[in-house]
Amino acid sequence: MKITMIGTGYVGLVTGTCFAEFGHHVTCVDKDKTKIDKLLQGDIPIYEPGLKRLVAKNCKEGRLRFTTDLSDSVASGDAVFLAVGTPTSRRGDGYADLTYIYEATKEIATELKGYTVIVDKSTVPVGTADQVARIIRETNPAAEFDVASNPEFLREGAAISDFMRPDRVVIGVETTRAEEVLREIYKPLYLQETPIVKTDIKTAELTKYAANAFLATKISYINEIALLCDSIGADVVSLAKGIGMDGRIGGKFLHPGPGYGGSCFPKDTMALMRIAQEQGQSLRIVEAAVEVNGAQKAKMVKKVRDILGGQEAGKTIAVLGLTFKPETDDMRDAPAITILPALLEKGAVIKAHDPQGMDEAKHLLPNGIIYTDNAYEACTDADAVILMTEWNQYRALDLEKIHTLMRSHHFIDLRNVYEPGHVREKGFTYSGVGRS
Ligand code: UDX
Repeated sequence: MKITMIGTGYVGLVTGTCFAEFGHHVTCVDKDKTKIDKLLQGDIPIYEPGLKRLVAKNCKEGRLRFTTDLSDSVASGDAVFLAVGTPTSRRGDGYADLTYIYEATKEIATELKGYTVIVDKSTVPVGTADQVARIIRETNPAAEFDVASNPEFLREGAAISDFMRPDRVVIGVETTRAEEVLREIYKPLYLQETPIVKTDIKTAELTKYAANAFLATKISYINEIALLCDSIGADVVSLAKGIGMDGRIGGKFLHPGPGYGGSCFPKDTMALMRIAQEQGQSLRIVEAAVEVNGAQKAKMVKKVRDILGGQEAGKTIAVLGLTFKPETDDMRDAPAITILPALLEKGAVIKAHDPQGMDEAKHLLPNGIIYTDNAYEACTDADAVILMTEWNQYRALDLEKIHTLMRSHHFIDLRNVYEPGHVREKGFTYSGVGRS
């Protein structure tokens, strides 16, 4: 099939490249010439494991190309995927900003020739596909097209494997013709018996929000249980195993931490609550999950303060990991963005390290943070070390070496990576999230 992917961000670039890997011919289009020029030189604007190699392979084999001009590929394509950003609107009211979607739709509409399916890949509020169809009809009444919804369920840092081995593919369509095009596009997955969940467009649009909001709720749930474990002296890691082995619960997303971040959960939970509000409904469970998540970051600041004897002033704190999760350079809504300024404000000295996120962090965190080349440099002369993001390189630190480097010896493991007893044996105090 011939596919046009509008948007070469985290979703568009991964999806377009993987479609090319399926054997389709993909043109990835972006307005941002700098981004396209980088891609044409083989540079990848985002850190996503395995993406650089896959882009190079498919460009070399002639199935993947990049351009700022969508006209010829839209005119000759079978499907156009909208993978442009849908950020939370700058009004700050939680609505998704659909400006980019509507702008792209207008441009696409004028270039359509022959039957084409316009597919929402971005996470969009219910009813967006109807708006896309309206814009196309108004802009180009002669256009022969259908719209469809095909939400993505890719995790940053695991996007390619999530795409190539998805639990399911959700397609929202209103005509058989559109369904046939999407089934043909996903045929390589179909052959490996990946379930295709076919539904109507509105249901597909809502499915993505409902999935992300549920995952966010699951995280806030285990974070609250972890706080109870701290009070009772129970161990949340064992508890998570104990509940997660129940097939109805499942063991994933039961890892307590400093709160979820990223470009999706915070944005999508807010957007879903707005969607409900517009229907005169409230999603009190999702609201509670959002509230708990905000409180969790504040509780982590208090945890550090308590461990440092009630004040951070004059204390040096090593922070290992800044990104919202490992295997990404993405700092969007990372807990560090809330926690570090709060510690700095109280007079702490912060020495930070992150394998991929420091360039981005420097734009988002206050001046005064000392960025270091590795974890050991961060720990040198520190009174406490906070494991903020569970990057692999922090999972087997030389604790004896770190002990000699530090001034005081507080180990604050916000991702429960280490065994408390093992860390204490090395001469540290240990504090996790819900670890007895
Ligand atoms: C998420 C959804 O998982 C994905 O399906 C959707 O398409 C995009 O949003 P992503 O935000 O990339 O993916 O990362 P994810 O791995 O889901 O983690 C999100 C946040 O939750 C991270 O801050 C992570 O640290 C946190 N998290 C995750 C926990 O705190 N505990 C967990 O058990 C799992």
